Amino acid sequence: GSMVLAHSGSLDTFCILVWLKEQGYDVIAYLTSIGQKEDFQEARKKALKPGAKKVFTEDVNREFVEEFIWPAIQSSTLYEDRYLLGTSLARPCIAHKQVEVAQQEGAKYVSHGTTGKGNDQVWFELTCYSMPEFYNQFKGHSDLTEYAKQRGIPTPVTSKNPWSMDDNLMHISCEAGILENPENQAPPALYTKTQDPAKTPNTPDILEIEFKKGVPVKVTNVKDSATHQTSLELFMYLNEVTGKHGVGNIAIVENRFIGTKSRGIYGAPAGTILYYAHLDIEAFTMHREVHKIKQRRGLKFAELVYTGFWLSGTALSVNLSATASPMEGKVQVSVLKGQVYILGRECPTVYNEELVSMNVQGDYEPIDATGFININSFRLKEYHRLQSKVTAK
Ligand code: ARG
Ligand code: SIN
Repeated sequence: GSMVLAHSGSLDTFCILVWLKEQGYDVIAYLTSIGQKEDFQEARKKALKPGAKKVFTEDVNREFVEEFIWPAIQSSTLYEDRYLLGTSLARPCIAHKQVEVAQQEGAKYVSHGTTGKGNDQVWFELTCYSMPEFYNQFKGHSDLTEYAKQRGIPTPVTSKNPWSMDDNLMHISCEAGILENPENQAPPALYTKTQDPAKTPNTPDILEIEFKKGVPVKVTNVKDSATHQTSLELFMYLNEVTGKHGVGNIAIVENRFIGTKSRGIYGAPAGTILYYAHLDIEAFTMHREVHKIKQRRGLKFAELVYTGFWLSGTALSVNLSATASPMEGKVQVSVLKGQVYILGRECPTVYNEELVSMNVQGDYEPIDATGFININSFRLKEYHRLQSKVTAK
């Protein structure tokens, strides 16, 4: 039968392609354009050479931003306080499309060639199992290089860097090789999406980001009043301009779903500026108690996305975007030397300057605070009264 293979161009996927062919499958290679730097003409040719029957290239950049990145931004989601989930979000996007291609092509099987020692395998397979009516057969493999040598599979031109990279619109991740020693610091060659902060410009870029329903709808660079409006365009622009200033690079150790630790260095410039700008507009415009609930849900959302339960995560985020719906406003942000500085914000409907002002009384009666403080102090006074009884005994 036919098998749609998610093909990343890695050695793993070349080996699995050949192996699947040997098992008697007609392999349809499925290449996704999701923001990575890649020559797709070349990649097509390369996949045909070891025997793919067909090659599909699909551009999912817009879907990735609107259907995967936006819910993450709306819910201020971070895994273990730091990771913006660049890869965790991309995998279900790729896998969903892959299953659609399989349906179109009447292929009964889907497959991937991830290294079976991490999150990738879990993400791909869980996403496929969350699609209807599919029986998925997955095969692992061990000694790739040996296998490649035996079958004369040319090792794809990989970068000369002693680590592996995974690139999409949301982030670039660098892992493995010399980076597995958590003491090793990022070598200069590692900075690609985000400039090495030591080499960034000395003057900031100042951006105005407009939000509606908790997602950015417009970005203007104050310097030249250049404006970006479609989701993809504004996201790519933010990657470019904040990346140039070295924003959004982290070198962390995280806990994989399978239970091991993982050392990774990630660059997510647009995701980072949007994370901070969104935090600001959210704290500014959102009801205090709703905000608390939303923070907790954001944590859960991150956990679900990281562990491959994208579908459950989106079910939760429908709620999140409902709470985000009144969120509208503009945030002015400066980016400089790897940092995001929030300069100001505006929202026409949520803020009464006279009421909050320390300079004018407005409708606020300070005398009212006396009773408010009295009531709140009962429990404190009572605590001391009971304590003195205990010590008196
Ligand atoms: N450790 C990150 C995650 O699990 C990034 C993984 C990127 N690497 C990869 N082989 N896919 O989301
Ligand atoms: C992998 O999924 O194969 C490695 C990536 C990770 O778990 O960090």
